[in-house]
Amino acid sequence: MPEGPPKITLPLNQSLHLLHPYNATLVSTKTPDGQNNVMTIAWIIPTSVDPPLITMSVRKSRFSYKAIQETGEFVVNIPTFDMAEKVLRAGRTSGKNIDKFAELPFIARKAKMVKAPLIEECVAHLECKLWKTFEAGDHDLIIGEIIAATVIEGYFTKTWDITKFRPVQHTGQEFFTTCSLETVEIKF
Ligand SMILES: Cc1cc2nc3c(=O)[nH]c(=O)nc-3n(C[C@H](O)[C@H](O)[C@H](O)COP(=O)(O)O)c2cc1C
Repeated sequence: MPEGPPKITLPLNQSLHLLHPYNATLVSTKTPDGQNNVMTIAWIIPTSVDPPLITMSVRKSRFSYKAIQETGEFVVNIPTFDMAEKVLRAGRTSGKNIDKFAELPFIARKAKMVKAPLIEECVAHLECKLWKTFEAGDHDLIIGEIIAATVIEGYFTKTWDITKFRPVQHTGQEFFTTCSLETVEIKF
């Protein structure tokens, strides 16, 4: 058998980034005293269909972490590739110091089921109630139950129409990409 190309050994703290690109999301919250905030989260995965659960990996130090724990709710907003710069800025600034809705800016819209706002510029929104939190190393696993989901009409019929929706995919550090327009259906 011919040998493939040589492989290098990575420092373990870089190894997690071999799993990227991940779709970056904008998670919005409202503090008990009424401050809207948004943070970027790329480490987020579907977890259960019934009940519908998602899991995000969040550091305790985030301003958003406290708001989620205090209010028990948050919204996962799905941004588009043309929003990559704002996605980076929302992930490099903190609600401890600035009002990101005012300064980035984003338009806040009333959600159906939670007090946290929807981000109008995003194409879809998952309104979540906090289900459980688990400690896991230097991040916590925050599990949310989706209690309402909305998407722009015509963008999603059981799967995304990739000709309309261009996700912001985080490859690592300050680098972003999006998926190819090619879609194949594999008959099985
Ligand atoms: C592309 C990108 C992805 C990120 N993903 C995560 C993540 O999955 N979990 C996390 O805790 N922080 C993540 N961050 C960092 C937070 O978004 C960042 O610390 C932010 O300033 C927190 O905002 P807050 O303090 O207002 O909550 C990410 C940052 C960027 C730029």
